[in-house]
Amino acid sequence: MRGYYDNKIAEVRSGSTFEEFQVYDSAQQRVVDLLKRVADHLLGRAPDVLNNEFPFDNGKVLFLWSKPGFGKTHLLEAFINRVKAGNAKLLQRMVLSRGLFEFDYQTCDSPYGVPVVVIDDMFHDKQSVSDLHPVGELASFMKFVTDTYERRALAIVTSNFPLLKGGIVERIAQVDKGGRIVSRMKELLACSGEIKLTGKDFRAELAKRRKNDEFTL
Ligand SMILES: Nc1ncnc2c1ncn2[C@@H]1O[C@H](COP(=O)(O)OP(=O)(O)O)[C@@H](O)[C@H]1O
Ligand SMILES: [Mg+2]
Repeated sequence: MRGYYDNKIAEVRSGSTFEEFQVYDSAQQRVVDLLKRVADHLLGRAPDVLNNEFPFDNGKVLFLWSKPGFGKTHLLEAFINRVKAGNAKLLQRMVLSRGLFEFDYQTCDSPYGVPVVVIDDMFHDKQSVSDLHPVGELASFMKFVTDTYERRALAIVTSNFPLLKGGIVERIAQVDKGGRIVSRMKELLACSGEIKLTGKDFRAELAKRRKNDEFTL
């Protein structure tokens, strides 16, 4: 099978690590601990993940959201770097998508073809969930959920939008008048988690620190 055309795994910055991540509160610490645990779990299951097409018993979506600058991309990259440090071969069984997510599913029902799918900044080109279009972004999202569960993949997703309350699924409910799709989505998402990342906009923090620095490359 051909690999995913837009895999960004090679672009991950080596400096994005859990050690470099400054923790402000216990909720943030729980997110760090969870992602570390998931990385270690993958490392523990490496022979399975490397050799079986479908190594997991169930599909799972881990959905991490916050306002911009709170460290979502940093944490995803830290997760990937931890897996890479433990067993670089596992990266062959993982893709990082950070393009326009809707296109991934527009021409293909199952674009990634690996058991571990990391999607950074889903719907980043949209201003609000009301901008998500039924036959565009929402159709792609529904295909993604079905694909993840049918292939029993592990999907780790970040977004500036929530998933359930006031989020993507609620938007789907507005357009799914009969409620069939939402009911299916709820079942599919039952063993998955939505996590709000707390903390603060670290870009503002970095700007403050760098204000007096000399220009270097
Ligand atoms: N808690 C944190 N500790 C250390 N660096 C952080 C933290 N949060 C964010 N950063 C850094 O701030 C910048 C913006 O974070 P990023 O992960 O891109 O945010 P998001 O993806 O949520 O918009 C990056 O350079 C990142 O490494
Ligand atoms: Mg980001």
